[in-house]
Amino acid sequence: MAALINPSILSADFANLERDLHAIKSADYAHVDVMDNHFVPNLTLGLPVFDRLAAISPVPLDAHLMIDDPDRWAPQFAEAGAASVTFHAEAAQAPVRLARELRRLGARAGVALRPATPVEPFLDLLAEIDMILVMTVEPGFGGQTFIDGTLPKIRRARKAISESGLDVWVQVDGGVSRTTIERAADAGANVFVAGSAVYGADDIPAEIDALRALADAHTH
Ligand code: DX5
Ligand code: ZN
Repeated sequence: MAALINPSILSADFANLERDLHAIKSADYAHVDVMDNHFVPNLTLGLPVFDRLAAISPVPLDAHLMIDDPDRWAPQFAEAGAASVTFHAEAAQAPVRLARELRRLGARAGVALRPATPVEPFLDLLAEIDMILVMTVEPGFGGQTFIDGTLPKIRRARKAISESGLDVWVQVDGGVSRTTIERAADAGANVFVAGSAVYGADDIPAEIDALRALADAHTH
């Protein structure tokens, strides 16, 4: 399975989002962190901005919704043109109904798990989703340190997916860099979000290439 690299524009310059989306045009998706100041203690951008990003982005958008009540709000991100919409398991009232709605609207449906949220409740529901996002930091901020304690959860998710024969992606987000990406790939992740590692690099396309090469060498 080829590794996918999704830079997070949380580390981009919010006054130059169009320029910074073009800077990552060699990436697979642009990861857009939507935070509501309730589910996480930080506030980023909402639907009107997302809508414009979807219209001008040279790469498909991967929306990561760190918001309360995704059952109500997430479908609008699919309607705005998100290629993938990921909501948090801890915030969703009816994750299967929501995932079905996102798929019906033409988006991939992802379920995100905070570091302390178990993956097991979703392992019987893999047919309903396209991606599990294992958060490798507590959501809310860029630039945090990768939590190695999340690796066993990635492994359990990948094992269950392999056994199911389904094509469900495993995404990791938080503290992903040249130092940590191989561990995450080894454990079974195939989609890698990196914010500060990509946007903090002097040569952004070279950093994307380097992360992809490291991940590819360790992705099963
Ligand atoms: C954190 C966000 C991440 C963040 C990752 O809550 O979900 O997408 O941008 O940033 P880095 O890669 O700097 O840890
Ligand atoms: Zn994210």
